[in-house]
Amino acid sequence: MTSGIIHIINGPNLNKLGQREPDIYGHTTLADIEALCTAHAATHNFTTHFTQSNEEGALITALQEAGDSAAGLILNGGAYTHTSVALYDALKMVTIPSVEVHLSNIFAREPFRHHSYISPAVLGVICGFGAMGYTMAIDALRQAIKEE
Ligand code: DQA
Repeated sequence: MTSGIIHIINGPNLNKLGQREPDIYGHTTLADIEALCTAHAATHNFTTHFTQSNEEGALITALQEAGDSAAGLILNGGAYTHTSVALYDALKMVTIPSVEVHLSNIFAREPFRHHSYISPAVLGVICGFGAMGYTMAIDALRQAIKEE
């Protein structure tokens, strides 16, 4: 029996992980992260729905779809984290538990990365732990879903 679907939504430039600034983001690709998440979620009887888009509108549609069908959601909004009121508004409509993830520690980087528009609309934020942040988010969601 499955416990439901966790939607994992990734924003701009994350399709380039592995090649993109490896000193900051490491050598793990987005496909590696997807495989890690799928395997980790399966051990807790969750399935995953993994998406990435470089476009803000597509991310908003993905958030709306998750809100209608998923048990929980994980969002790495990439740079839109720091710019997008529209992502915040979309998250505010979502009633399922949601976690914001960043591979890097955004607070140890440039000041413009220290502010997130989306943090006030999620259950919690995980940053600075690389790909492991996604599995930590799955564990946090599992707990939140159980407590609902
Ligand atoms: C990121 C951090 C953002 O500041 C940046 O724009 C990204 C990736 C992260 O996962 O560390 O694209 O979300």
